[in-house]
Amino acid sequence: MKRLLLLSVFLLPFTTFAAGPEVKGVSKDWGFLGPFGKYDKSSLQRGLQVYTEVCSSCHSLKYIAYRNLSDLGYNKNEIKAFASSFTVVDGPDDDGEMFERPGRPADFFVAPYANDNAARAANGGAYPPDLSLITKARGGGANYLYSLLIGYKEPPESIEVREGLHYNKYYSGNLIAMPQPLYEDGVEYADGTNASIEQMAADVTEFLTWAAEPEMEARKRTGIAAISFLLIMAVLSYIAKLQIWSDVKKKKA
Ligand code: HEC
Repeated sequence: MKRLLLLSVFLLPFTTFAAGPEVKGVSKDWGFLGPFGKYDKSSLQRGLQVYTEVCSSCHSLKYIAYRNLSDLGYNKNEIKAFASSFTVVDGPDDDGEMFERPGRPADFFVAPYANDNAARAANGGAYPPDLSLITKARGGGANYLYSLLIGYKEPPESIEVREGLHYNKYYSGNLIAMPQPLYEDGVEYADGTNASIEQMAADVTEFLTWAAEPEMEARKRTGIAAISFLLIMAVLSYIAKLQIWSDVKKKKA
């Protein structure tokens, strides 16, 4: 009995206390996981296309600037052209008036609504959150986002779906105000990839994971360099220790 008690105390930190019914999402084998993980550039580019053509009509991405898209493999001219396809509200000018101009690489992604209230008003009172940090803001991260995007299914008969809500297998409580955003061939991929719901969900998830942590690859590289350095130093110190103490041992004998 005592042992059992001890064991449960030991295991306590490893248990999770979920609020509400626990729904397990889909786990994907993402290439960006693990100490050597890297983003897949073509997937990032397709994800940008999905965000731009689908999600950006409701969700902002306010911490990413157009020039950050160089991480996705675009050159300066491509970024300039992309930025200038958006209209930015700037100002005030000398007369105190706000004015519109084409976007520049240094601008942050243009938001779909002027402010939070406008966003709520356009979405039946529900607020479409900014997506810049969404994979960090939700438990489950990339897997949760992916599951949510493929989780729109026919509701079971026991569930009543009120107007303005939609059934989603992986959303906590199962009723979400966001209508299903992805449908087969919802975008026509520039690189010819078949745009299935799963493919678009995976690509936009890869893109939003990058948006939440653009410096991930550099961080992992630094970590590996630091650990290699420490390992080499450990071996060198051990050899030095053997050398220094070898004398002492000899005298003893
Ligand atoms: C028609 C508008 C609309 C579009 C298009 C849209 N969303 Fe949403 N989204 C919403 C609204 C509204 C909510 C808030 C839902 C709620 O509170 O019930 C939301 C919520 C979310 C959430 C948060 C879910 C949570 O756990 O709280 C994520 C993540 C999300 N959307 C991702 C996306 C992605 C990725 C796309 C593009 C593939 C997309 N959305 C397209 C309106 C939209």
